Amino acid sequence: MDNPIEQIKERLDIVQVIGSYIEVKPAGRNFKARCPFHGEKTPSFMIAPDRQTWHCFGSCNEGGDVFSFVMKYENIEFYEALKLLAEKAGVELKKLSPEDQKQFGILYDINDAVKDFYQQELQRDPKIMAYIKERGLTEATIKEFELGFAPQSWDAATIYLTAKDFTAPDIERAGINFRTDRGTYVDRFRGRIMFPIWNHTGKTVGFSGRILPEYDKGDAGKYINSPETPIFNKSRVLYGFNKAKSHIREMKFALLVEGQMDLLMCAQDGLKNVVATSGTALTADHLKTLKKQTENVMFSFDNDEAGQKAAERSIDLAKGLDFNVKILLVRDFKDPADAIKAKPGIMVAYAKEAKEAMEFYFERYLSHGESFKNDPTKFKKNLHIVLAKIKALPSAVEREHWIRQLARLVNISEHILQEDMTRVETIVPLELRPKQEEVTLQAVQEEKMRIDLVAERALNMALIKEDFMKQLAEYAKYLPKRYRRIYDAATGKEAIDDPKIMDELHTVRLRAGMEMEDADPEKAAKEFVLLLSQLRQEALKEKQMVVMRAIRQAERQGDAEKSTHYLKLFDEVSKLLQNER
Ligand code: UTP
Ligand code: MN
Repeated sequence: MDNPIEQIKERLDIVQVIGSYIEVKPAGRNFKARCPFHGEKTPSFMIAPDRQTWHCFGSCNEGGDVFSFVMKYENIEFYEALKLLAEKAGVELKKLSPEDQKQFGILYDINDAVKDFYQQELQRDPKIMAYIKERGLTEATIKEFELGFAPQSWDAATIYLTAKDFTAPDIERAGINFRTDRGTYVDRFRGRIMFPIWNHTGKTVGFSGRILPEYDKGDAGKYINSPETPIFNKSRVLYGFNKAKSHIREMKFALLVEGQMDLLMCAQDGLKNVVATSGTALTADHLKTLKKQTENVMFSFDNDEAGQKAAERSIDLAKGLDFNVKILLVRDFKDPADAIKAKPGIMVAYAKEAKEAMEFYFERYLSHGESFKNDPTKFKKNLHIVLAKIKALPSAVEREHWIRQLARLVNISEHILQEDMTRVETIVPLELRPKQEEVTLQAVQEEKMRIDLVAERALNMALIKEDFMKQLAEYAKYLPKRYRRIYDAATGKEAIDDPKIMDELHTVRLRAGMEMEDADPEKAAKEFVLLLSQLRQEALKEKQMVVMRAIRQAERQGDAEKSTHYLKLFDEVSKLLQNER
């Protein structure tokens, strides 16, 4: 077997791998756990060792193999998960197929090589180094964060990489150059200070480049970033996370800032638990990464309206994910970088005075002399904004606390505020809203009928207990088609080579294991007898309906003979049904 993916799966036990992340408990021949991907109290996350798969039967309703679990849990791309698991399994990735190497490995190699190039270029030009130092960065920070410089040239990086035997199309896939309409390749970053962006394991996966002021013609962004590539996912990667991770744990909170310069200056100023988003707004994925280290975040954004809007958006997202959120305001400065340059050491002092997110909202919406007396319309509007924020808090304890604080601030009684709060609409951040399932015709048709529910439950029970399976044999003819096929696959009556049915059988079996785990055997036996009877009843009812239709048709056609025949049949079915009850 030379496929490393199969090799890794062969050597690692999915139960052990998942068990190294979350607590798993045996459940029959399977294992169960509380799903790590959505909050839940009773476990609906199942692991099937025989097939080496997992499945969440809760609100996620999805599953996969050991790779998809690690990708989801660690928030990493496939190739990263492959490397991580290869290491665990002791599989050498040199055995990675040439295709896989070309697909992913080479993208890391290119980013790594060009990082060296940019660093060399920075050393060559004292003028650029002077600019960076003038911004407040020390030699040590420049070195630690591996800053570089992309020369003001159309092809210097491409030429450097080509000389190292990388091909132009691969360099393009890595995002370092791009193809013009004329078919030539042009360096993406020109005349820019280069900040390498690392993934969470410390590998360079992209860059952010700031234009050197003297080259700034105002025709391109002040900062430009690598495009998304198979190894660089902007909504997942948090800039600086690989360096900050251990400090976040130690200091028990994460500081989140908006830009590269802010991050470097904060780290230089002693706040090493700092991360930043890069070329995108904060996402739920970013926050989920942080959540594994801490429940406490502190935001410090630009001191202008855009920065405060970004703060508001980020607070709502983080609060929705049940973080404790604080806001660090750099009162007299443009942004954290500015503040630190002017007053080294100031960030630690600001951090001590950081406000609770809700206090930030009180200040933002209610502390500018707004009162009912001065401007009732504006006051009411702002008060309702704040009430909506409180209402959206997942914790009832917190809601009560902030209502009490608000009552004091605006001098309105708590129960009046409560009353208004029931009327305001909470605004759930888009990312946190449950995905709306599209209602298709097919979905309507597939809407489970009563007989489906009965059949599903009976099948679940039979899959767990051989005795039930035997009893079901006589009733199998009443199963709706879909369940009939699963039943046939389970009993091996029919050689089923349709992998879809086999997958379905597997999932039904896994779910059955979960549902039936704690069942009392006596109660289960009683329930099963009832189910079988219901199964027949439902089938008979359906038959009754068909016969009824036949009678009507015969009567319409004036066919007395047929009509009598069907009426008799109807009577027979009705009697059977009566007996069944
Ligand atoms: P800012 O414009 O606030 O950057 O953008 P800054 O740190 O104050 O910049 P300096 O001090 O002038 O160097 C904050 C972040 O937003 C992203 C970058 O990641 C930047 O660090 N950004 C900004 C872009 O991606 N593109 C832009 O054109 C501007
Ligand atoms: Mn800024």
